[in-house]
Amino acid sequence: MTDRKMPSLHFGDLTVDVPIIQGGMGVGISMSSLASAVANEGGIGVISAAEIGFIKEEFAKSPKETNVIALREEIRKAKRLSNGVIGVNIMVAMTDFLELTVASIEEEADMLFVGAGLPLGMPINKLKNSKTKVCVIVSSARATNLIFKYWERHYGLLPDGVVVEGPKAGGHLGFKYEDIFNPNFALEKITPPIIEVVKNYEKKYEKKIPVIAAGGIYTGEDIYRFMKYIGVDGVQMATRFVATHECDADIKFKEAYINCKKEDITIIKSPVGMPGRAIKNRFLEEVGMGKKTPFKCVWQCLKGCQYQKAPYCITQALVNAQKGRFAGGFAFAGENAYRVNKIVSVKELMQELVEGYLEAESKDIK
Ligand SMILES: Cc1cc2nc3c(=O)[nH]c(=O)nc-3n(C[C@H](O)[C@H](O)[C@H](O)COP(=O)(O)O)c2cc1C
Repeated sequence: MTDRKMPSLHFGDLTVDVPIIQGGMGVGISMSSLASAVANEGGIGVISAAEIGFIKEEFAKSPKETNVIALREEIRKAKRLSNGVIGVNIMVAMTDFLELTVASIEEEADMLFVGAGLPLGMPINKLKNSKTKVCVIVSSARATNLIFKYWERHYGLLPDGVVVEGPKAGGHLGFKYEDIFNPNFALEKITPPIIEVVKNYEKKYEKKIPVIAAGGIYTGEDIYRFMKYIGVDGVQMATRFVATHECDADIKFKEAYINCKKEDITIIKSPVGMPGRAIKNRFLEEVGMGKKTPFKCVWQCLKGCQYQKAPYCITQALVNAQKGRFAGGFAFAGENAYRVNKIVSVKELMQELVEGYLEAESKDIK
């Protein structure tokens, strides 16, 4: 046994013992069970706020209000189950972004992870009067610069951290379809220019702003390589956390990961107009052949959703998958999902990652 540790992660006065963030996964894949388990192991556990109200009966009647109520309940539950660091992932593309952000701050979530759009409409007064830290999720130096400039000028405040999400991630991707497999957009390539942008602000404000890498990071060795040779302060991982006992999805969702092969991981054109990475199945094949699943939009939950033209409702499809009902849905997954071959506890997974990191460090693996 070694008493060496991974370097801890610091967002101002908030310390995270293990620099591993469990990425937010909607709809309903990462809620209080998974988030609290990760937080208990010293990482950051993240609840996805996306359409989280679906877990309650009232959702069909009043989706917007129910999302806020359910999110508040899940944050409270996670905080009851763990004294560790609990975050909330809120997509800017959600129609109720502001309401979910305000609710998370009021519930004293330790961190917010905001992405899928530029976070230029923050409830800034609430934020300034809270201890909640904000990480922005970006995929380019240009977006990072734009956000930092805007926040500096309009908010007199900077984001507390930056998550760089590369093209190997699961779910909706912040890249054009044709750039996803272009090596110039690999996580290793897009991260250094983002670190440069952040460094300029760090110098100007004499403040450390951690940069986190996400998308396709799978082993402790990967974590080591990114931290040591790309220069990030931590990683965000999602795919690996799906195949854990504590993940909030149905067992059939987890089995979809275990059973998929490399060639099953595909890029879809989501009805919200962005590409997304998912596991191929009958439902997606039929969509590809032009099948339409008629639906009535309950409320336009995503700002950019062209639901009149969409062949299916993305929220309904993701909720079905979360419940293991794959006849009406599909699983989002990262490029490495085919490498997952068993369900483990979060404790086991975190231990494996930490040990893998320390071993790579001792051999200085490049
Ligand atoms: C099932 C699934 C759902 C996801 N949902 C969201 C989401 O709602 N919001 C978001 O910002 N990112 C979402 N992501 C992206 C993850 O948070 C994470 O950044 C990314 O998947 C990291 O790559 P990895 O899965 O290869 O570790 C999702 C990923 C997966 C696999």
